[in-house]
Amino acid sequence: MKVLIIGSGAREHAMALAVSASPLADEVFVAPGNGGTAMMGGNVSNVPLKSSDLEGLLHFVEKSGVELTVVGPEHPLELGIVDLFRSAGRHVVGPSKAAARLESSKAFAKEFMQRNAIPTAAYHHFTDISSADAYIEKAHSSGSFPLVIKASGLCAGKGVFIAGDREEALAATRDLFEERIFGDAADEVIIEHFLKGEEASVFLLTDGTNYRLFLPAQDHKRIGDGDTGKNTGGMGAYAPAPLVTPEVMRKVEERIIRPTLYGMAEEGNRYTGFLYVGLMIDNGEPYVVEYNARLGDPETQVVLPLLNSDFVAALSASFDGSLPEVPFEMHSGKSAATVVIASGGYPDHYETGLPVTVGDEVASMPECMVYHAGTSLVDGRLVTAGGRVFSVTALGETLPESIERAYRAVGKIVFEGAYCRKDIGAKAL
Ligand code: AMP
Ligand code: GLY
Repeated sequence: MKVLIIGSGAREHAMALAVSASPLADEVFVAPGNGGTAMMGGNVSNVPLKSSDLEGLLHFVEKSGVELTVVGPEHPLELGIVDLFRSAGRHVVGPSKAAARLESSKAFAKEFMQRNAIPTAAYHHFTDISSADAYIEKAHSSGSFPLVIKASGLCAGKGVFIAGDREEALAATRDLFEERIFGDAADEVIIEHFLKGEEASVFLLTDGTNYRLFLPAQDHKRIGDGDTGKNTGGMGAYAPAPLVTPEVMRKVEERIIRPTLYGMAEEGNRYTGFLYVGLMIDNGEPYVVEYNARLGDPETQVVLPLLNSDFVAALSASFDGSLPEVPFEMHSGKSAATVVIASGGYPDHYETGLPVTVGDEVASMPECMVYHAGTSLVDGRLVTAGGRVFSVTALGETLPESIERAYRAVGKIVFEGAYCRKDIGAKAL
């Protein structure tokens, strides 16, 4: 069958590799893809269509006979790509626009969790600065800091402020409501209690009722070693995350995953596709920090290579009720680590168009995959084209082995200003 993957990051490069490895996939298209997907060759090619060009993508699918479309990023989901493709009778992996509100509206997600008794931080919801500030003054008098202040809409992971005191909190509401630094995405603002603990993420593929779990992963969101500096899209990840013990996973399934799928279906928003559950785990008790309506980036670059069964077969099974029976096996006893190589200056201003060399020896390094994120191929030359440029993954028999292998490959990738964290996975050791 012909498969279309929508997106342009390392997540989509990893998906393209997993899809093209399946004997069920004759041809794989990536729209718009990146330099890495352009260089894959074989049955993989890029299609120059933006992930927000829903009509263009549907037209391409109809014209070229694509039977299965997989949506990588959140934006086309928020725009309603799944609804459009479904109404045209096309198979597409992802949630409807209404179901994707679990990610695109934190106000919706928090109300949903409250209605369905799903564990999450207590919160209040505001649509104007005066009531938000009045709440902050009350929290100040009762000593309830830190507070977490969030824009409700999509902000590429940047719409969250952890305010340690009254002044920081008031500055955040001013930025959101008055300076409108995130525009309409902050028309609604959530203020919630600060959760203690360690973060981990759980990913699943669901048909709305049944689901299959990937291995739990841990991201590294801050730019600097030791979790310092600004938030980014993610600077590295590893899986499985030992923090998510079988006992914690049992609680996550019982208290979070099943009530989420059941509640969404009950309320008329049946949830299909990938679901990302961002967790805070405090003394073995899981709380939802956020939902995302897609797989994570860079977490996909560790959870997907650890899948040891046919990815396309599993995706197809999410359309015909056979998800419980399809093989969905993980490489047993293996670990994976991925290290993001970013442009100098990221997550603030950075240059693009810088020439990149990837050492030939990387191709023969054991169990190592160089996923491209922000690269493009210009006149046959690879250049940087984004903030996160590569995500270098390695598998190993142990986590230290996979980390060591990933960093060895990172050392062979060179461009001006290249930056990576040196401590990916260290937390788990
Ligand atoms: P979100 O976009 O909601 O995932 O938030 C981004 C990051 O802010 C999370 O990954 C956490 O590190 C942090 N965060 C969000 N909400 C909370 C909370 N209630 N308590 C503590 N940290 C939080
Ligand atoms: N790595 C965080 C995310 O994909 O949202």
